[in-house]
Amino acid sequence: MANEQEKEAAGRAAAKLVRDGDIVGLGTGSTAYFAVVALGERVKAGLKIIGIPTSIQTADLARAVGIPLTTLDEHPEIDITIDGADEVDPKLNLIKGGGGALLREKVVASVTKKMVVVADSGKVVATLGKFPLPVEVISFARTVVEKKIVALGATPKLRTKSDGTPYLTNNGNQILDCSFGAIADPPALARELNGMPGVVEHGLFIGLAKVALVGRGDRVEELRS
Ligand code: A5P
Repeated sequence: MANEQEKEAAGRAAAKLVRDGDIVGLGTGSTAYFAVVALGERVKAGLKIIGIPTSIQTADLARAVGIPLTTLDEHPEIDITIDGADEVDPKLNLIKGGGGALLREKVVASVTKKMVVVADSGKVVATLGKFPLPVEVISFARTVVEKKIVALGATPKLRTKSDGTPYLTNNGNQILDCSFGAIADPPALARELNGMPGVVEHGLFIGLAKVALVGRGDRVEELRS
């Protein structure tokens, strides 16, 4: 429950950073949820924004709370994005994708002027890697990519649904959750994964976040890279 309160406090604090006229990237997950709900309240009170959702789930939520939506084709530049993370290190490098939306989240983050991470205090780590790194792959290449990831010293596990069949992302791909242990050099690992044919995207977000708002007890801490 403490986590839920920290998530809500972080999400609501981030929603206050959005300004009239902004194109807003809407993140995915249980923390971004609170930011989207708070933005919906601000829209009802008169705030003029247009959102770009990072998943079908977030698009549905945004519509439900009254946030007008657009696409990257219409608006290829984003003023501010609010999104969660599975781990946040002191440089604000992130592991994301626990909710499966990493690909759209990274595209949105890559064209965002100000990416704001929202998280509860349990997400802040000294070194990334305890949380298994999500790697989105085309199903055709899954075994090939698995072998390459094993050769890097990690243990990949295919993400499955409750019925045991592969989980599919909004883009129709599969996810390997890869236990690396402590990732000593996140940018180097990101480059390695970027170079693997069959990998569509991975959950290492390097140098993308400008600020993190972290709920801690009844406070919200601001971390900067
Ligand atoms: C979604 O794919 C993820 O990147 C989420 O942003 C991340 O998993 C954090 O989610 P929670 O806020 O639910 O922990």
